[in-house]
Amino acid sequence: MDFDTAAARRGTNSVKWDRASIMSICSNPDAEPFWVADMDFLPEEHAKAAGLRIAELGVYGYPVFRTLEEAASHWLSVRHGWEVPAEDITYSMGLLHGVSACLSLFTPPGARILVPSPTYKPFRDITADLGRTFIEHCLAYDSAAHAFSIDRERFREDASHSDAILFCSPQNPSGIVFSEDDLRFVLETAKGLSIPVISDEIHADLAHPEATHIPMGKANEGIGADTITLFAPSKTFNIAGEHCGFIVFSDQGKKERFRRNERACRLDEPSLVIGELAEAVYRDGLEYNRELCSYLAGTLEAMVSLLEDLGSPLHIVQSHASFVAFIDCSAIYGKARDYVERHPEEFPGGEGGGILSRFFGAKAAVCVNDGTWFGGMWKEFVRFNYGTSRKSVLEALKRMDRAARSL
Ligand SMILES: Cc1ncc(COP(=O)(O)O)c(C=O)c1O
Repeated sequence: MDFDTAAARRGTNSVKWDRASIMSICSNPDAEPFWVADMDFLPEEHAKAAGLRIAELGVYGYPVFRTLEEAASHWLSVRHGWEVPAEDITYSMGLLHGVSACLSLFTPPGARILVPSPTYKPFRDITADLGRTFIEHCLAYDSAAHAFSIDRERFREDASHSDAILFCSPQNPSGIVFSEDDLRFVLETAKGLSIPVISDEIHADLAHPEATHIPMGKANEGIGADTITLFAPSKTFNIAGEHCGFIVFSDQGKKERFRRNERACRLDEPSLVIGELAEAVYRDGLEYNRELCSYLAGTLEAMVSLLEDLGSPLHIVQSHASFVAFIDCSAIYGKARDYVERHPEEFPGGEGGGILSRFFGAKAAVCVNDGTWFGGMWKEFVRFNYGTSRKSVLEALKRMDRAARSL
């Protein structure tokens, strides 16, 4: 598989490559995009073949899928060693839809939702949009080792004031792949408080080869907490624009209630395109997934080595999953802020993004998500998407390092 060749996506309605969207993130429409979690790799061959088959016929009538959940069950078994019968797997029109529907169905208005921070911003937005209360639980950050972890005492304390836990595993953007011990701790805490754990596992299949992701529902075997485990082929196979996810409920009553609600809203059936793509990759995409995870781990290692060799003030947070790296820029944040404030003429693009995303947008022509997107306290970080050719990733990092050291 050729991961060194990126797809040419400019002008294809890709938000990642859209100049106005890039502008809104870093204030420089010409910056190269390393932001939204969307990869630029060429398509997986079975996904591509399924798409071509549909396009060749060119008839997009109502579909019916009889074996899609079986394919998802097969995937959980071969990729994560989790045996879940197809009838216990429920389709969801994307993971955020699933999270949102679960929060509105299974928590009352005003409910306090504990969410680890740094937080994937839509979790915060959905919680607010639904009239629930966002309880920001800060992960512990070791600034010497550049690593995040759960502070158990604080987690227990925050959970005791919460009505549900909204977890992200592996965690976006910190890259934590939680150990079985950590997951058991979370589950036992939740069980003791009789609150549900909603676990968004969209990045699960992208755990790097040195790490093992354990689905929340699997870790829950023998514990008996109330778990809602959401997973998807979307990030894994770069088909996220088609919005497809699946859910495993530990509580059969919740499963039925979710399904009834989806039927009532007419959201319970996948489209022709995503049904075909999802089934193809879940049946035949394992080899591609293995190679992709190795490539991503290799790129991350090369990124860390590059910054070390350069003696860079930028540090990549330890991560064992996916294709987004949180970069600790605390060594230059103060100088970057002063620079941006004193030289407004060098940042003509306005106020899109935050200090660091504007700084790197203008001075390195690299568009990254500002740390503030994940919560105000993470202003000294940026998130960098390395889901593209290693060569362009390393070139962009060099430009960021040069800009940082020019301060
Ligand atoms: C943690 C997490 N959940 C959900 C999503 C989006 O999922 P979907 O497009 O299926 O709603 C993303 C996309 O970046 C994500 O990182």
